Amino acid sequence: MKGSNAKDILVNNSNKEMSEMQTKNQVEDSIIQESLLTCIDLANSDLHQSALLLKKACLDSGFFYVINHGISKEVTDKAFEQSKKFFALPSEEKMKVLKNEKHRGYTPLYDQIPDPENQVQGDHKEGYYIGSEVPRDDPQWDRPFYGLNTWPNPDVLPGWRETMEEYHQEALRVCKAIAKLLALSLDLDADYFDSPEMLGKPISTLRLLHYEGISDPSKGIYGTGAHSDYGMITLLATDGVMGLQICKDRNAKLQKWEYVPSIEGAIVVNLGDMMERWSNGLFRSTLHRVILNGQSRYSIPFFVEPNHDCIIECLPTCQSENNLPKYPAIKCSAYLTQRYEESHLKFSSYKKTNLS
Ligand code: OGA
Ligand code: NI
Repeated sequence: MKGSNAKDILVNNSNKEMSEMQTKNQVEDSIIQESLLTCIDLANSDLHQSALLLKKACLDSGFFYVINHGISKEVTDKAFEQSKKFFALPSEEKMKVLKNEKHRGYTPLYDQIPDPENQVQGDHKEGYYIGSEVPRDDPQWDRPFYGLNTWPNPDVLPGWRETMEEYHQEALRVCKAIAKLLALSLDLDADYFDSPEMLGKPISTLRLLHYEGISDPSKGIYGTGAHSDYGMITLLATDGVMGLQICKDRNAKLQKWEYVPSIEGAIVVNLGDMMERWSNGLFRSTLHRVILNGQSRYSIPFFVEPNHDCIIECLPTCQSENNLPKYPAIKCSAYLTQRYEESHLKFSSYKKTNLS
């Protein structure tokens, strides 16, 4: 992977490529610079110190880096290699594993439009969803977000499934470690989120993404339009090609967008809307988007949501007489269904749009 070293994490403002890109993409109402994000060391044995640092990051933007996460470079590199191989297949081969009703499989270019008010067409990216495998003999296997994955033909891509399953497992382990720190930072028991009721059977989704093209915000063309993630925690591994931007104040008249640089060995983490709801708006689920500069870009987000039936409601430590719950309680699966429907083409319209 390209990118800076964890050591120079907070510096590196003089990148030439960056400043050229900034100039190109600067739009009237935004000033673009690099964001300075907190770095959480998951190998630090002082959990309370890490939780304090994390709390600061979550109050500020909900975006931070984790290092010493234990996902080896080999596992990550393999996942990127196999992802590139999949996207390089002929379109007919990719369409054989088109995303199904269980949200597993291939999503073609323009499939998603997270910010229809500002986008003239869908995101300039193709993707592949890999969810949590819940086998047929499990009483819950027929729930909308549980079930079996769909996989490319192993004769075409040998070892592909195994590579993705390994990365999926590793990413979930990291998210559970972050969930412990999040609980501590909200004055809850360390195992509050990492418990059978919440993360015993999580809806965890690995998504491979491949971006192409040049974005032009002034014309409403984006790699990914502005959005916040739906769930609890997102891990984001990228190939080092710049593109991710965050906007800390979505209500500002002049929205200010900042690049989040990739750092060798570090993973970007952000909180999703469920975490904002749980914390009664205390922790931030920040608006972000992807701006492309013409280079191909690959990324691997991993989204963690709790169990299907988990109720997302204001945490006991985030409410008081003077701070009543701001969001109604909602079941995890109901919330996700609503959010997927708002931002994706319907399964039935893929065929019309892409196969006609
Ligand atoms: C996402 C996302 C950013 C990226 O998939 O939700 O924000 O860099 N991805 O691909
Ligand atoms: Ni996102």
